[in-house]
Amino acid sequence: MDANRIIEILADGEFHSGESLGQSLGVSRTAVWKQMGQLEKLGLEIHSVKGKGYRLSRKLELLSEKLIREYLDESTEKLFSRMDIKKRVSSTNDEVKTKGIAPYVCLAEMQSSGRGRRGRSWISPYGSNIYLSLIWEFEDVASSLDGLSLCVGIAVASAINKLAGIQVGLKWPNDLVYQQKKLAGILLELEGEMSGPMRVIIGIGVNVAMTRIDGSAIEQSWVSLSEISDEEISRNQLTAQLLTELAKVLPVFQAKGFAGFREHWQELDAIAGNEVLLSLANRSVQGCALGVSDSGELLIASESGIQAFRGGEVSVRVSQ
Ligand code: BTN
Repeated sequence: MDANRIIEILADGEFHSGESLGQSLGVSRTAVWKQMGQLEKLGLEIHSVKGKGYRLSRKLELLSEKLIREYLDESTEKLFSRMDIKKRVSSTNDEVKTKGIAPYVCLAEMQSSGRGRRGRSWISPYGSNIYLSLIWEFEDVASSLDGLSLCVGIAVASAINKLAGIQVGLKWPNDLVYQQKKLAGILLELEGEMSGPMRVIIGIGVNVAMTRIDGSAIEQSWVSLSEISDEEISRNQLTAQLLTELAKVLPVFQAKGFAGFREHWQELDAIAGNEVLLSLANRSVQGCALGVSDSGELLIASESGIQAFRGGEVSVRVSQ
């Protein structure tokens, strides 16, 4: 039986009897009951009440390519004409990797092995958040690709700001934070030969309506849009806004590099002026964060003067 069809019916959050579900799906009530176990394996919480039937513990807005496209303007719609929405994948970044074409967008309702930066996992429960990957091909890029992940951060921040009216901050290089709690993350992976076009996989995860239970394994402090916005955020609309902002930012980055984005990035900088600790492979640097350079490096003022860093993990030092 098609698990997707049963989820679509239950997505309204209302009770549906085993009998009516069986009729809609052309299966027995026992098969419906068995299917509930499968849905629970996907992480969906099912309420089963005698005499009423089954319902999901909360309403779900499932992703719909048709709806997403309705929110896009003509040129963005054309640019992202290749798009797939999957129910369950290991990681959307892996899905786009196998495609020979670019641009290509893949979204999923859930990831079983979602990946974060620095080998961490990205908790990806069903139907709650956005897991989006885009493969983009750069023919010639005006500068190094270093600043690209910062530009993608700007695109994600703009999308959230335009749709939810929330000003989120950027923590170098590309974490999106709200009051220092992580709201979204970006994972860039490069593909390509030494010669020929460079293919970049841009993976974006946004916490939209993750429950505290679903996110309980996350080791850092995090927040979901549903916790900070008065309005209910539509994942379809937010996806369209993300694609709209990416369509604006990526061609400009390709033509001109990061320098023109620096000012905007610094307006959103969530750590500038703070004492920070930058952990590098075999040492760490402590000092005051001073924003970013024209190519997107982190600037830190320490006893050794002002230095620029291309990599590492930054944390804000809490004063004792
Ligand atoms: C981070 O650690 O901040 C980066 C998180 C990136 C998560 C997204 S979700 C879509 C895409 N698929 C993945 O497996 N990871 C990225």
